[in-house]
Amino acid sequence: MRISVAILCALVAVQVALLAAPAEANELTVGYYAKKCKGVENIIKWHVIKALKQNRRTGAALVRLLFHDCFVRGCDASVLLDASYENPRPEKGAPVNIGLAAFDLLEEIKAAVEKRCPGVVSCSDILIYAARDAGSILSNGHVHFDVPAGRLDGFVSNADEAQKELPDSTFTVQQLIDNFAAKNFTIEELVILSGAHSIGAGHCSSFTGRLTAPPEQITPAYRDLLNYKCHQGPDPDVVNNIRDEDYATVARFMPGFVSRVRKISDFMDNTYYHNSLAKIVTFNSDWQLLTHTEARSKVHEYADNATLWDVDFGDSMVKLSKLPMPAGSKGEIRTKCSSINHRLY
Ligand code: HEM
Ligand SMILES: *[C@@H]1O[C@H](CO)[C@@H](O)[C@H](O)[C@H]1NC(C)=O
Ligand SMILES: *[C@@H]1O[C@H](CO)[C@@H](O)[C@H](O)[C@H]1NC(C)=O
Repeated sequence: MRISVAILCALVAVQVALLAAPAEANELTVGYYAKKCKGVENIIKWHVIKALKQNRRTGAALVRLLFHDCFVRGCDASVLLDASYENPRPEKGAPVNIGLAAFDLLEEIKAAVEKRCPGVVSCSDILIYAARDAGSILSNGHVHFDVPAGRLDGFVSNADEAQKELPDSTFTVQQLIDNFAAKNFTIEELVILSGAHSIGAGHCSSFTGRLTAPPEQITPAYRDLLNYKCHQGPDPDVVNNIRDEDYATVARFMPGFVSRVRKISDFMDNTYYHNSLAKIVTFNSDWQLLTHTEARSKVHEYADNATLWDVDFGDSMVKLSKLPMPAGSKGEIRTKCSSINHRLY
C-alpha cells in the first residue's frame, strides 16, 4: 500500500512537470503550428468568418479581448477564465472589463481545434489568431499581419490586477501615457491602438462625464445625441463610431453627418482620427489624446494617411501580442478556454 502511494506521488510529480511548462521556454514563431496542428489557422478563420457574418460586433469584441488579455499578465488567456470555487474573482469581473464578449465563440473554436489536435493549441494563441482575422475582415483586408505563436495559457486571473493594469476611460492623457509606458508602449503606439475605437460600442456608464462635458471637449450636437441614446434604457450600448449610428438619430441630431451613415457597421479604419479631431468620440480617454502636443500631432498624422494607420496598427497588434507572462510563470495548454485543466494535485 505504502509503495503504491509513493509510486502514485511520483507519477503525479512527473505529470505536473510535463503539464506545467515554464512559460518563458517558448519562443514565439510565425507558423508555429504548421507541423504541430496542420490547418489550425484555417479552422480558426472559418469560425471567425462565420461569426462575423452573423454579427460584426463580435469582431470588435475579439480585438478588444486581445488588448485586455495581453495588458494583464501578458498574453496568457487569463481574461478568458470563468469564476470558480478556487478563484471567485477572475479578471472578467473587473469593472474595467465591462462589455467584454466573444467568449462563446472562442470556446467554440477551441472545441473544434481540440477535435483536430487535442492538447496542442493554446487559448492565448487562438485569441490572437481570431483577433487578427477579425481585424482583417473588418478592415476589408487592409489590416493584416503575421502572428507569432507558441504561447501558453496561464493559471492566474485576478480582477484587482486587471483593474490596476488596464487603462480607464476617465484617465487623463498623462495617466494613459504612463499606463502604456509601463508595458513599454510609446505615445505613438497609444494613439495608434486607440484607433481601434473606429469599431464596436461602449456602455453609457463608460462615458458619463462626456454627457455634460463642455463644447471644447465634445461637439454639443454629438453630446445631445449621446444623452438621447443613454436615456433609452438602464445602461445601453452606444456605437463608438457615429457612422454606425442609426440613420434617424443622426438625421435628428447631426444632419450634416447622415451621408456618412453606413449600411455595414464596424468597419475598421482611420475614421477614429477624423472623429477625434471633430470631437465626436465617446470616451474621455479618446478626447484626452488631443490635449497632448505629441499625441495630437499623431492624431493628425493618422487622420491624413489611412494606409499608414493600417500598417502601424498591425505592427502594434503584433507588439501587443508579444507581451510576456510575468517572469517565472507556469503555463499549460488548456482543454477549455474558460477553466484551467483539472489536475491531480
Ligand atoms: C487607451 C486606452 C483605452 C481605454 C481607456 C479604452 C476604453 C474602452 C471602453 C470604456 C470601452 C467600452 C466598454 C463598454 O462600456 O462596454 C472600449 C471599447 C472598445 N475598445 Fe477600448 N480602450 C482603450 C484602448 C483600446 C485598445 C488599445 C484597443 C485595441 C487595440 C481597444 C479596443 C476596443 C474595442 C474594439 C472596443 C469595442 C468593443 C465591443 O464593441 O465589444 N481599446 N474601450
Ligand atoms: C520593458 O522594457 C524593460 C527594459 O528593456 C524590461 O525590463 C521590461 O521587462 C519590459 N516590460 C515589459 C512589460 O515588457
Ligand atoms: C502614407 O503612408 C504610407 C505607408 O507608410 C506611405 O507609403 C505613404 O507614402 C504615405 N502617404 C503620404 C501621402 O504621406
